[in-house]
Amino acid sequence: MTIKTAGIGFPVKKSKSPLIYTYWAHMYGLDFSYDLCEWPPEDLEKNIHSLLARGYRGFSVTIPHKTRVFDLCDETDDTARAMRAVNSVTIKDGKLFGTNTDGYGFAANITENVGINCFTGVAAVLGAGGAARAVLHALLSRGVPEIRLCNRTLEKAEDLASHSPQKIKVFDWQHREAMLDGVQLLVNTTSLGMDGAPPLDLTLQHLPKTAVVNDIVYYPLNTQLLQTARGRGNATVGGIGMLLHQARPSFKNWTGIDPEVTLDLQKKVLA
Ligand code: ATR
Repeated sequence: MTIKTAGIGFPVKKSKSPLIYTYWAHMYGLDFSYDLCEWPPEDLEKNIHSLLARGYRGFSVTIPHKTRVFDLCDETDDTARAMRAVNSVTIKDGKLFGTNTDGYGFAANITENVGINCFTGVAAVLGAGGAARAVLHALLSRGVPEIRLCNRTLEKAEDLASHSPQKIKVFDWQHREAMLDGVQLLVNTTSLGMDGAPPLDLTLQHLPKTAVVNDIVYYPLNTQLLQTARGRGNATVGGIGMLLHQARPSFKNWTGIDPEVTLDLQKKVLA
């Protein structure tokens, strides 16, 4: 019997998820389908019930539905509850089980590329949007002792930091360079540096050469931030791995197989 799954969002047409999940289904010889569903918010609940009625195994969730789906789930895990947002749902016995795999994807991408040592020192995070929320949760749950958080709109950073005020220190956008002193891991979660967005204006002169630099932007793959970091000897991790690794737990929940993130898959997603 076909394992039926879906990806829901609004808009969702440009999503890479169909490519990723069907690549794995093919790799593991599964009878599997993944439909993209562009549903406006007002139709969400009704349409989710129709997935239930049609025997779907689960679905992934993207903007703007992550918070609403959190509310619609019958059960959620600790990660989803901490973020109050769900990006992956598994359907079992007519019930919706929600989780959030964005933070896992971020951390697995770093660990896979440079090991877990970079979660033992000070981390600096640029940005305070949805991606930053997942990154902060992943860093805190992996025991990072201190996080420096910097965002153009200070109040958004202060709001995120208020959940963990002992560990997260907020910096003004104009102090984004000075905050890099002594940092072990720098993560850009802003859209700056992405194709079509303004550049990220950041010299790394205060950053220790031993620090790891991660950009979650992956268009282009080799962002200016990563080039600058590599040029001065810092280890770097690109953003495409976060997209691929966040899909792994969903695929595992739906099919029972923890799929491999291969170089070939990375190339296909970027093509
Ligand atoms: P995502 O869900 O991908 O994190 P988002 O919630 O729109 O997307 O967040 C985008 C991030 O990029 C925010 O931190 C945003 O800063 P603001 O909170 O001040 O909007 C940041 N960003 C976008 N354009 C920026 C710019 N020109 N300068 C500085 N930061 C910018």
